[in-house]
Formats: sequence, C-alpha cells, structure tokens
Amino acid sequence: MRQAGRYLPEYRAVRDKADFLTMCRTPELASQVTIQPVDIIDVDAAIIFSDILVIPEAMGMKFEMVESRGPLFHHPIRTESDAEKLRDVDPTKELKYVLEAVALTKKELNGRVPLIGFSGSPWTLLTYMVEGNGSKSFGFVKKLIYNNPLLAHKVLDKLSKTIADYLSAKIEAGADAIQIFDTWGGILSQNDFEEFSLKYISKVISQIKRKDEPIIVFAKGVHYKLEDLAASGADVISLDWTMDLGKVRNEIGDKVALQGNLDPTILYAKKDVIRKEVKRILSSFGEGSGHIFNLGHGILPDVDPENAKALVQFVKEESRQFHHRVTETQRI
Ligand code: CP3
Repeated sequence: MRQAGRYLPEYRAVRDKADFLTMCRTPELASQVTIQPVDIIDVDAAIIFSDILVIPEAMGMKFEMVESRGPLFHHPIRTESDAEKLRDVDPTKELKYVLEAVALTKKELNGRVPLIGFSGSPWTLLTYMVEGNGSKSFGFVKKLIYNNPLLAHKVLDKLSKTIADYLSAKIEAGADAIQIFDTWGGILSQNDFEEFSLKYISKVISQIKRKDEPIIVFAKGVHYKLEDLAASGADVISLDWTMDLGKVRNEIGDKVALQGNLDPTILYAKKDVIRKEVKRILSSFGEGSGHIFNLGHGILPDVDPENAKALVQFVKEESRQFHHRVTETQRI
C-alpha cells in the first residue's frame, strides 16, 4: 500500500520537480512512479499512482496536499447547499487523465505484472469531504450522519454511482484488478458501518462493469463485520495488521481470498525480525492459495527501501513451502 511513495529516492526525485496533483494529472509521471516499485523492490503487482481524493476534486472540491500533514479541502461539505454544489462526474471526461495513466502504464508494463486500479469507498470519501482533512475525532461527519442522515445518504448515493462508473472505466482502460479503500470504516459502530459504509460498498461492487477482474476491499479496523464484508461481492478482503490471519481464514476463507497483513512499522526493524514476521504471517494463513501478502496499511515515508526490498524477497522465499503439491506418500 502506497508502494509508490516518499520512502523511494527515485519517487522523491520526480516529486521534487512536480507537485503531487501535477504528478497525478500527468500520465507519463504517474506511470513512471507506478512502475518504480516493480523495478526497485520487485513486487508482483503495480498499483496505479493516483489518490482517492481525485473524485471529490472532480466534483468541484479543490484540495491541496500539505507537506507532511496530508490533504486539505478548503471548503468542506457541511450543509445542504454545499452538497448541492457537487458536480456530476463523467470519469471519461473529468478523470480522463487517470484513465490515460492506466492505459499508458499497462502498455509500459507489457504484461510483466498485473495493474491494480483503486478508489476510496463512498464512506471514506464522504469522511474527507466533510472533515476537510485527515481528522482524528471525525466530529463533523458524525454530526452529519446523526443530525442529517438523509443528506449523508444522498451524498453517499451520488458517490457510489460516480465510483462505480470510475472503476468500470479503469477496467475498460486496462486495470486487471480493483481495490476499494475503506480507510475510515472502523470509526463507525457496527450498525452505523452497515448503514453508512457496507451498504454502499456492496452497491459499488454490484454496479462495476467487469469480466473477471477481482475486487479487493480493504476496510481498516472493521474486524467485527468480516462475514458481511465477505458477502459484499468482494473477491478479496484485505486485513489490517491487528487481525489474526489464520483465524479470519477459518471464518471466511472459503468465501473470499485474504490479503495482508504485516504491520507497516515492522519495516523499521532489522532484517531478521522482518523475516520472522513474514514466516509468522505465512504460517498463520497456512497451506494453499488464497493469500496475497501485503502490508496492513500504507508504507511509511521514513522506511529504508532496502528493508522493503528484503521484505519482498523474504515473502518470495518463505511462501514456496506453503504451495508445494501434496505427494501420494504424504496423502497416505
Ligand atoms: O499505493 C500506491 O502506490 C498507489 C498510490 C496511492 C496513493 N494514495 C498515493 C499517495 C494510493 C492507493 C492512495 C490511496 C489513499 N489516499 C488512501 C487510502 C489508503 C490508505 O492509506 O488508507 C487515502 C486515505 C488517501 C488520502 C491521502 N493521500 C492521505 C491521507 C495522504 C497523506 C499521507 C502522507 O503520508 O502524507 C495522501 C498522500 C499520498 N497519496 C502520497 C502518496 C504517494 C504521499 C504524498 C506525497 O508524495 O507528498
């Protein structure tokens, strides 16, 4: 997650010349940094360089990426009239630059690894649009769902349609898989998660036009709704590092594949600690397929790229033993 990012000097070299949004909007630059981790750390898939916030931006909400603080919307959505100003988005127009980046990257990758397209979930986008930044208390979005749930549902509905159109267009442009990030699902109580997040994730998934492109859902902190997430239409559930992979496999492993779930801060540790943790996660899932090794959240900017490289190497080495074919003798 955020495998193209500031921990790579090669990324910073591009970023020194262009600001974040210019990078997102310039297909050549987006494509260049998307492919960097494939070349440098040898990951098995590329995820298109962009951001979940390009959708609110296309709806008319200008934002800036403030250095070391994250995104900031100048005019967050707080009232009916704010919401009325949100524009309808045709992804093939307002978000054409992302589709061009996908098509160009697909061409440049030339089949080396699959390319993942992504979006924020309706709830996670709503949270940013109402809070205006990466809030810690989420007071504004909570006030909205409790005091004006109709308005929240109206915006969530609009977002769901836009996201489904956008993800369908990304598949059409060449994305081989889709990941939906519900980064803020876990700030909701169980009932609220069902009403304001899960329902809309399912809606998005059911409206995506796809052939056999798998859909991965990452819902951070939503350990209490795994069965429902597995029934959302997703093919893969991506877990944060607080969950027990083996236990989750027992619960929903027959319905979906699982992705995850290394604590991103393990990359601060020495290489032998990283290898030990890789082994622990792999054996927690156990034998057979249906597991995509990944971090439990985004890679941090001050991680040593050598450790990220070592991690990928360790996963490739250590995972082999979990995929051997059962021989006749072992079966007996
Ligand atoms: O994973 C990848 O390599 C693809 C690119 C990607 C980015 N953002 C690039 C990025 C992806 C998949 C995202 C998703 C995203 N963006 C999420 C969902 C995943 C998650 O982390 O929970 C969220 C919540 C955002 C919003 C966002 N974008 C935040 C909160 C920040 C600030 C974080 C920080 O560390 O400063 C960003 C910035 C951002 N998005 C960066 C990158 C590479 C760093 C910005 C920079 O280069 O200055």
